[in-house]
Amino acid sequence: MRLLLFIFLIFIKTVAYGNSYPAIIPAPVSIQLTDKQFIIDDETTIRFNNEDKELKELADFFSSYVGGISRYTLNHNTNAPKSIHLEIVNESGLGDEGYELNVNSTEISIRANNRKGIFWGMQSIFQTLTPVRTNTALVVPGMQIIDYPRFGWRGMMLDVSRHFFPPETIKQFIDLLASYKLNVFHWHLTDDPGWRIEIKRYPLLTEVGAWRVDRVNTPWPYREPVREGEPSTYGGYYTQDQIRDIVAYAQLRNITIVPEIELPGHSAAALAAYPEFSCTQRPQIVIPGGPYPEGIQTAYCPGNEEVFTFLKNILLEVMDLFPSEFIHIGGDEVEKSRWRNCERCQARIKEEGLADEDELQSYMIRRFDEFLTSHNRRLIGWDEILEGGLAPGATVMSWRGESGGIAAAQMGHDVVMTPGYPLYFDHYQAGPEGEPLAWGGMNTLKNVYDYNPVPSELTEEQGKFILGAQANIWTEFISTVSHLQYMFLPRMLALSEVVWSPAENRNWENFNRRLEGWHFRKFEKTGINYSRGNTRVSITPKSSDGQLKVYLDTEVIDSEIYYTLDGSEPTLQSYKYDGPIKIERSLTLTASAARDRRILGFLPARQDFNIHLAIGREVHYENPVSQRYSADGPNSLTDGVRGTLKLTEHWHGFNGTDMIATIDLGEMKTINRLTLGALQRNRDWIFLPPQVDFEISADGSNWEKWGIAPNPLMSGDDSNQIVDYTVINPSRDTRFVRVTARNFGVCPPGHPGEGHPTWLFVDEIVVD
Ligand code: ACM
Ligand code: ZN
Repeated sequence: MRLLLFIFLIFIKTVAYGNSYPAIIPAPVSIQLTDKQFIIDDETTIRFNNEDKELKELADFFSSYVGGISRYTLNHNTNAPKSIHLEIVNESGLGDEGYELNVNSTEISIRANNRKGIFWGMQSIFQTLTPVRTNTALVVPGMQIIDYPRFGWRGMMLDVSRHFFPPETIKQFIDLLASYKLNVFHWHLTDDPGWRIEIKRYPLLTEVGAWRVDRVNTPWPYREPVREGEPSTYGGYYTQDQIRDIVAYAQLRNITIVPEIELPGHSAAALAAYPEFSCTQRPQIVIPGGPYPEGIQTAYCPGNEEVFTFLKNILLEVMDLFPSEFIHIGGDEVEKSRWRNCERCQARIKEEGLADEDELQSYMIRRFDEFLTSHNRRLIGWDEILEGGLAPGATVMSWRGESGGIAAAQMGHDVVMTPGYPLYFDHYQAGPEGEPLAWGGMNTLKNVYDYNPVPSELTEEQGKFILGAQANIWTEFISTVSHLQYMFLPRMLALSEVVWSPAENRNWENFNRRLEGWHFRKFEKTGINYSRGNTRVSITPKSSDGQLKVYLDTEVIDSEIYYTLDGSEPTLQSYKYDGPIKIERSLTLTASAARDRRILGFLPARQDFNIHLAIGREVHYENPVSQRYSADGPNSLTDGVRGTLKLTEHWHGFNGTDMIATIDLGEMKTINRLTLGALQRNRDWIFLPPQVDFEISADGSNWEKWGIAPNPLMSGDDSNQIVDYTVINPSRDTRFVRVTARNFGVCPPGHPGEGHPTWLFVDEIVVD
């Protein structure tokens, strides 16, 4: 009830105060405004217990921030008419990181159980001050805030292997995390394209592993192989002194740095330095991007005991540098096929009574779990560490969707959620037309904002194992600071609200007003690049009740949508969207958002609709469609919209099962052609059905064969494509149509998913 009341207050005050409403991100648990504002000027002191060194450090931090935006230097503990009071208290309601902030005309008081809460309280005050340097006094609005985080793990991961960012950039990144009350910086320090941390005992890790041939001017996937004799000039690494300095810098800002040392896979750079720790032990290079060279070893050899000694020695130095309880050991995407052909690995499998290479990876992870635990640390790894059995102390970072995290939580293991959708910030956030090149997939600001780290599959008890969430930035395509900022701003601000604020305090429109009202201005004035948002209109077909309706939507607040039905570019003179559009003939719809009488975006959104006899009809499946690939809803196969070659759009997916669909056309119709569209993307485990059976029926119970369509492709054509399975007959009257598409079965020998169920993807049943 109390919370509800506060939400109401936020709404009312936003309207009443306009831009003067504090634009705090993440939104506090509760905030109440008063008219007793506090002025920071020459008559302001900052008070705290002088014995407390941490508070002095924080007071200095506060003074220095104020000095950066005004001409005031705050004295400490002097007699002054007005004070900012930092106070450590003992209040269970505030928890480990919470704070209480009271602002009236004579005092700003921040109270918390420890320095963390004081620091977060200071961040909230900063966001009420001018975003730009001013010569006038600083005004803090009168208010009372009670605030504490929803989750204890509020993180961002940065990959510095694919691109090395210098210490100053890392500090700026940490500053931004701290501004938004994020408290974990997951530092991805090692990977195939570069080893970035000095290890005293193994100097070649950085002398060799930190440098590669320069291909920075070519987009990552298209980079040419290294030629004989090319010098390795591109890269860099952090010395241990630099790391100590950065760790201390982060500590002052409430941020724990979780270092990641990848094992057993993604280790090509380390193996370029020390090839004796791979299965083949053959020399190799640090890869510059592009396809992996033939024969390259990305995984350590777990059959070799010296590998364990090597990695433990590395981890000892890592633990010495990083006080973090959690140490990330990677564990993702291990090329286990090398182990299959390695005598040592096979001997290890036999000796240890392991079933297969999955269990060999688990064996390795278990030994590092024991090692880290014996040093009072905890192991965290990517969700592949579940395969072959999860080590007893392991925490799982769920990146391939949420299923790994759900499984781990159900087993009573701690989990950090970082699913590719929507938390990979290296994916597109808009466009993609007009956007810098990125990995496919669309993670818009609103997708991030709407994310809930606790999946509904979990019971309340299991949900407690979700420590929190983080976003990841991989840097294949990102090689400048400005581009890096663009990718994580403002999505990181949405994340901060997801992991800090109570779910019921989240409000998309209000969030946008706070962004635009203060944070964007702050970025502009301080030279920080950010994305101005997703202006692309979403076009969502809905097929039901015999009709096709199209819904248009935009993430841009205070905007309008204009559209055309003839494929031309919308202008302010085109149709203005005011509700679902009924589509009754085949056509091309284009749509753009507009704000302040200006069309937004690089190109309009565009969708073809192909009208046929099954449009608007219910589709009944015998086997359920996958929740993950469910396109625009249950009747996506009768919405006139064909899929694209991209993975996720407009496709219904069936994992390992056949698609058996029945459609009631509503009345007897004359037909002569039945078509099912299917997708081939073998590398993504999506295989064409070997055949499709079509049947018709007048009553829905007595079925008659219409025909069988075999896979129409030439044998051996395994390129990505959309394939129509069609059977044409002389015209017939029918009311019901049944389509059965056989699943391919399991991935064939030699495929990375060998023996695992394949996906069947279908987009439309066309009845003509
Ligand atoms: C990952 O994205 N390979 C963890
Ligand atoms: Zn081996």
